Amino acid sequence: MEVFKSHTVLCRKPLLEVLTGRMPSRRPLWLMRQAGRYLPEYRRLRAEAGSFLQLCDTPRLACEATLQPMRRFDLDAAIVFADILLVARALGTKLEFRDNEGPALSPVRSEEDFLRLNSKINLSDVEAVFETISLVKRQLEDHQALIGFCGAPWTVASYMIEGGSAAERLSARKIALQRPVWFGQLVERLIEASIEYLSGQVEAGAEAIQIFDSWAGDLPESLFDELVFEPVRRIREGLMKRVGVIPVIGFARGIGAGHLQFGMRSGVNAVSVEPSVPLEWLAKEVCPRISVQGNLDPVAAVVGGEVLKRAVRRITGSLPAHSHIFNLGHGIRQETAPENIRELVETVREADGALIG
Ligand code: CP3
Repeated sequence: MEVFKSHTVLCRKPLLEVLTGRMPSRRPLWLMRQAGRYLPEYRRLRAEAGSFLQLCDTPRLACEATLQPMRRFDLDAAIVFADILLVARALGTKLEFRDNEGPALSPVRSEEDFLRLNSKINLSDVEAVFETISLVKRQLEDHQALIGFCGAPWTVASYMIEGGSAAERLSARKIALQRPVWFGQLVERLIEASIEYLSGQVEAGAEAIQIFDSWAGDLPESLFDELVFEPVRRIREGLMKRVGVIPVIGFARGIGAGHLQFGMRSGVNAVSVEPSVPLEWLAKEVCPRISVQGNLDPVAAVVGGEVLKRAVRRITGSLPAHSHIFNLGHGIRQETAPENIRELVETVREADGALIG
């Protein structure tokens, strides 16, 4: 940390350095779902807000939730506290989060349901996210980047069609195959909405964007191009047209060897990868072409101790710091002890000390 601090004169942000192909002052590190229920202070804040959505909709509280992990751990990026499903709500879907049940949405099951959606995103429904971003931005340290995000069209469409989290997303997969016309229009609407939404986030101060396609791995490979790569490419391009160059991380979770093609086709600056992707392949085939984010098993963070340290060192030892963003392969699990996250962060920093210092 000392060495790093002494090099921060020019406001260097490791995350942005890796995403723009510059040599980072150290390996960037942040964690998906770094804000959330594993933190006792988050649980208190959520109780104060009354509900998860109320928390997302109240910039002062959402800002606090975003900053909580930044105070505890030595992280290189904050991610705005919000949810991918806010876009579905801003398109006219009813959205609720019931305790321990996950999201519940009014389902879009037919063309008639689709036609009832708003033709454009209602930006006043997501205004709070923009305000949260501008509040957070003023409170970060010089080396910390602020990440904005949205869900990718396939993943958000799957929640809209299912009306929530459904095992294997079968209805959504059937509709993608059987009703390609209105399903395609839904994807189109989500592309447009995401461009608008992300443009607002960048204008408010987001410095990098992550696009979460959490359920990409449920699709057959034959649909990757049309339903994963192309929508993400179009969002990225539309965003650039609106706000200029902005680094994008794509997380097409579960597509295995498809990550390289995803990176090339979509034009994202980094691909975020799940824990089952082999490090050797990432080091040899992916890192030379595109930066990689990931891919620690969230369960290793639950277990902690030597198991966690070994898993962290295996990653830092395999992937070069100049083209890697340390992260989990999926979000932090609720049952994770905050102490284990401290250990994780310290282990990354120790492992890299000799490398960058
Ligand atoms: O710290 C952060 O990562 C920022 C905030 C963030 C949340 N959701 C907060 C949240 C981000 C980036 C997301 C993304 C998100 N939301 C995804 C993509 C990432 C992934 O996990 O695959 C998805 C699929 C969603 C949809 C969603 N939101 C579900 C299915 C659930 C319920 C499951 C659960 O964990 O309860 C949520 C709720 C949610 N989003 C919580 C948080 C902190 C828990 C809500 C609570 O406090 O009760």
